[in-house]
Amino acid sequence: MGRYRMGKSDNPVGVFDSGIGGLTVVKELLRVLPQERFIYFGDTARVPYGNKSKETIIRFTLENILFLLKQDVKLVVIACNTSSSIALPLIKQYFRIPILGVVIPAVKESVYATRNKRIGIIGTRATIESGTYEREIHRLDPEIKVFAKSCPLFVPLIEEGWLEGNVVEKVVRDYLAPLKEKEIDTLILACTHYPLLKKMIKKFMGKEILLIDSAREVAIEAKELLNQESLLYAGKRRASALACYVTDKSDIFQEIGSRFLGRRLENIHEIKD
Ligand code: DGL
Repeated sequence: MGRYRMGKSDNPVGVFDSGIGGLTVVKELLRVLPQERFIYFGDTARVPYGNKSKETIIRFTLENILFLLKQDVKLVVIACNTSSSIALPLIKQYFRIPILGVVIPAVKESVYATRNKRIGIIGTRATIESGTYEREIHRLDPEIKVFAKSCPLFVPLIEEGWLEGNVVEKVVRDYLAPLKEKEIDTLILACTHYPLLKKMIKKFMGKEILLIDSAREVAIEAKELLNQESLLYAGKRRASALACYVTDKSDIFQEIGSRFLGRRLENIHEIKD
């Protein structure tokens, strides 16, 4: 696998996710790196990853990276927290191209930000069960108390566009009450979808809580990494900055995708194998 050359600065940045949620990461990447071109790969035919086995998540992650490498990307950003938690630590060593996951940037920011050294993490079942966030936090500061909770109903609710209202309020309360009791001052949103629930999460946890959005943190880290590797594109902003590839293009894909991206999603291609 080490046969890929380090990309040139005018090559695109590749981003992948299990589905559409990773467009929250693309939204931040476009904001932080407005001059770059992006190729987004969403494995919409096989989403969700969050309740799959470790072996399957690793296999899907490898396949997704190989797809992006074929597009000659200069950097791979794994927008999916599930892939970043489970597969990235094991497979990173096999690639020469820089691969950035969402875990480390969010962990660094949360360790830096917490005042009372009590951090909460919410994510899919696979992410939480992997214990990766907890391990990485303790690598930086073993004294921090970490409280983790999987919130499997958040993803389907958000994909249905249920971002507010009684049902969402109740689900948020049921999932987050145990974390509130632990008096955390920082909460990592360890899932592509959760930034869309920020308002409701804040409403329940209180306005003092600091929400760490892995999308924002990884975008900042991507810029630093491209800079270090002399891979930042120095030319003018280009017209079609985003091309989107999906393994299944359902009728509602564009509508939901636009919600995640925060603007109209275009340039969508369906790929079959
Ligand atoms: N993209 C996944 C994540 O960030 C959420 C959706 C899924 O379960 O695949 O963990």
